[in-house]
Amino acid sequence: MGSKIAVIGTGYVGLTTGTCFAHLGHDVICADIDEAKVERLREGELPIVENGLGELLREGLRSKRLQFVVGSEEAVADAEFVYLCVPTPQGLDGSADLSYIEAAAMQIAPFLTPGTVVVNKSTVPVGSTRFVEQALGRSDVHVVSNPEFLREGSAVHDFLNPDRVVIGSDDQSAAIRVASLYLGIPAPFMVTNPASAETIKYASNAFLATKLSFVNAIAAVCEAVGADVNDVVLGMGYDKRIGHEFLRPGPGWGGSCFPKDSKALIHIAEEAGYAFDLLEGVITVNLEQFDRVTDKIVRMAGGSVEGATIAVWGLTFKANTDDLRDSPALEIVKRLLAKGARVQAYDPTVTEPPRGVEAIEVCGDAYAACEGATVLAVLTEWDEFKWLDLDKTAGLMTGLGVVDCRNLLDRSALVQRGFDYEGIGRA
Ligand code: UDX
Repeated sequence: MGSKIAVIGTGYVGLTTGTCFAHLGHDVICADIDEAKVERLREGELPIVENGLGELLREGLRSKRLQFVVGSEEAVADAEFVYLCVPTPQGLDGSADLSYIEAAAMQIAPFLTPGTVVVNKSTVPVGSTRFVEQALGRSDVHVVSNPEFLREGSAVHDFLNPDRVVIGSDDQSAAIRVASLYLGIPAPFMVTNPASAETIKYASNAFLATKLSFVNAIAAVCEAVGADVNDVVLGMGYDKRIGHEFLRPGPGWGGSCFPKDSKALIHIAEEAGYAFDLLEGVITVNLEQFDRVTDKIVRMAGGSVEGATIAVWGLTFKANTDDLRDSPALEIVKRLLAKGARVQAYDPTVTEPPRGVEAIEVCGDAYAACEGATVLAVLTEWDEFKWLDLDKTAGLMTGLGVVDCRNLLDRSALVQRGFDYEGIGRA
C-alpha cells in the first residue's frame, strides 16, 4: 500500500522526488504556484531536460498516482507526508535565504492533518528543522530532515539507486515512517538527529567541491612540471581512500548547488565561531580557474582576443542538463566578452543568448560556431562534441587553436590535422 505524499515545489528536486515516489507506488500530489508550469506538467510535458524523468512523469499521470495542483492547500489536506522542495537561494551575505521555506510552512500549517510528517528535502541550513517547526506552529505534526543528493542529468537514477538515504529526526517513529517510503530501494539507511542530517548534506557538497578545486590545482602543477593530469588522477584513484570518482579537471565547478552551498556552509561555520579557511580556499581556487582558463584561450589567440572570433562548444554547467545556473562556461564567456572577443557558441540545449552574456551569437550547430573562429574552446563535456568531423571543423576556422577545458577531444587526431591543442593539466 502506497502512502499519500504532497510535494511542495516542482523544481528539479520536487519534480524528481514526486515522480519517483509515484513510480514506487505512492499517491503523490505536487503543488506549485506557477500555473503555466502546472498545466504543462499535467499534459506530461517536462519543463527541464532530465534523463528518464519525462517517461516517469507520463507513467505517473497515466496511473493517476501523480497529480499536479496550483497552490499547496489542496495538496496537503489529505497527505500523510509533505515534502518541502522549495528553493533556498543564496542571500546577500552568503547565507541561505529561507523565506520560501517559511512561506510554504506558514501556508500549509492550517491544513495539515494531525500526525503528518513534514519533510525538509531542500538544502537548508543547520537548524532549519527547528525553524520549520516554529513556522508551522503545530505540535501535532513532525518535522524531519531528508536531504537530497541528486545530480542533475542523473537525478532519477540517483533517487532510485542512492548511495545512502539520510533521515534526521528526534522522533524515531517519524523517521521510520519516512524510511518506509523508500521500501525496495537498495541503499544504506541512516537515522540521525536533524542537525547531523543537515550537516551531512553541506559537508558532502563541500567535500566534493574541495576534490574538484584540488584536482584543478593539481592540473596547474601538472602543466608546470610536464605531467599529465589524466594519468596522475588515474594513479591516485587506485588508492581506495581516494577513489577514481569526481576527479576530472575542468574549467571550474558550478551549478545550482556547489557555489551556493559552499558559501552557505562558510556562513554557518562563521556564525558558530569557526572560520572555514579551507573552504574559502576551495572557492578562491575555483575563481582562479575561470581566470586561468580564460588566459589559456587568450594565449591561444596570440595574446589578445580583442576583435577575435572565439568558438565555444557548451554553455551549460555540465553535460546532460539545460541548466545554466552558475555555469563555469558562462563565467569564461563573460571574461572573453570583457576582453573584446566575438563569441559564437553552440550548446545542444541553448537557443538564445543567456542572461549576462547577451552579446554572444548562439549558433544552430557546433560547426556554425566555428565559422571564422581563431580558437575553439570546449567548455562543457557534451558527448556529441567527441564525434564531430575534425576536417570540416578545421576547414571552417581561420585559426587552428583548440582549448579543450574538459579534456574531451582526441588530442592526437587534432594534432594530426594541424590543430594547436591545449587541454587542462596536460603539458
Ligand atoms: C551536485 C552534487 O553532486 C549532488 O550530490 C547534490 O545533490 C547537488 O549538487 P550537480 O549540481 O548536479 O550535483 O552537479 P555535479 O555533477 O556534482 O557537478 C558539479 C560541477 O562540477 C559541474 O560544473 C561539473 O562540470 C563539475 N565537475 C564534476 C568537474 O569539473 N569534474 C568532475 O569530475 C565532476
